[in-house]
Amino acid sequence: MNAFTFSYPTKVYFGEKPAEKNLAAELRKHGPNVLLAYGGGSIKRNGVYDELIAILDAAGKTVTEFTGIMSNPTYDKVQEGASLARDNHADFILAVGGGSVIDCCKIVSAQAKLDADIWDYEYAEHKLPAEFIPMGAVVTAFGTGAEMNSGAVITNRSKKLKSALWGASYDFAVLDPEYTMSMPMKQVISGAFDTLSHCMETYMGMPFGDNLSDEINEAVMRSVIKNLRAQIADPEDRQARSELIWAAAMGENGILKIGKQTDFQCHMMEHQLGAYTDCNHGMGLSAMHARYYRYIAPQGKEKLAKMAQRVWGIDQAGRSELELANAGIDALEAFIREIGMPSNFRELGISDALPWKEIADSVTITPGGCGKLNHEDILRVIEACR
Ligand code: NZQ
Ligand code: ZN
Repeated sequence: MNAFTFSYPTKVYFGEKPAEKNLAAELRKHGPNVLLAYGGGSIKRNGVYDELIAILDAAGKTVTEFTGIMSNPTYDKVQEGASLARDNHADFILAVGGGSVIDCCKIVSAQAKLDADIWDYEYAEHKLPAEFIPMGAVVTAFGTGAEMNSGAVITNRSKKLKSALWGASYDFAVLDPEYTMSMPMKQVISGAFDTLSHCMETYMGMPFGDNLSDEINEAVMRSVIKNLRAQIADPEDRQARSELIWAAAMGENGILKIGKQTDFQCHMMEHQLGAYTDCNHGMGLSAMHARYYRYIAPQGKEKLAKMAQRVWGIDQAGRSELELANAGIDALEAFIREIGMPSNFRELGISDALPWKEIADSVTITPGGCGKLNHEDILRVIEACR
């Protein structure tokens, strides 16, 4: 097993009315000025905003609103939030939304305390921020697991990059399944597929031999597949919703990555597709995953075959390792169709006239997976997704 250090900074409040039960006590730990961050307004339509404002008012907080955080948050939006936080002397940031709001605020919390431009600081100077405005997350859209890690995916439009920046971890995360019940079903499915993708991308990384992290991961993947089917059959199924929300957090809280490198090459390709098209993250992934695995099957067959048997329940039945791997990819492809997600770029609805080579060349190559792709390989995978 690879050496590791594991500790966890984010406290999770999960279940029935966790904000009502715990938010006031959390807010008491911080000064009076709160930056309340949210997206395009879903929280005003589903009552979450009113509930949180009542708690903030009762706690005597002065609230500045940072609104309109878009899906695939931009670097300009990060800078807008950092200025607001500075100008209003924010003591605390309460981020309310899905991965986009939650990610944006991680970098706002760092940029507000940093004189340097954080993109240059991390990418040119290779430094990480050390000072942050403390934050709490209220999750209203699940899938990314962003509430339980310190990485943020930010779109830098002028550089045509959708890349990771590193910010603060949340002090706490409120996971109230009721807050997610107004999510459009498409986003529920896309979010759950993102979770499955995080699990697969982690599973496909080294070491390839059996290990506890991968065996826990197999259980999480089976759970996501089962509960997403249950959720589609009954969108009101609270049990399935709760399981999916916790699986999302498990996918990105580091537990499945203990002692492992990860692959995440499919994510790197999707992020650059997102930089050029602003596509929905989970849908971008579903359009690429099976084709990516077909491409790396000759090198990745050992792991793909295990996934076929242990996650998709495929019988070995005299199949070679490569045949088993391919049967698993068939099952993944069938699942993507079953849940109504796009399985190529055409179904994703993006133009065929994109600068595909430029996109491929801008993709970060990851070191931990089976594929060991170069930019020519990436272009071939991308071409296969059209
Ligand atoms: O903006 P509002 O009006 O709130 O609408 C949002 C948005 O349109 C809506 N929504 C959220 N909660 C809702 C709701 N609508 C109705 N009822 C509710 N309760 O859902 C839409 C999508 O939200 P968004 O936050 O964009 O989606 P998601 O959670 O999928 O986040 C995607 C972002 O996370 C990044 C992605 O790249 C993308 O930028 N990721 C972050 C990761 C991380 N930090 O660990 C890992 C992921 O791999 C991913 O890259
Ligand atoms: Zn993802």
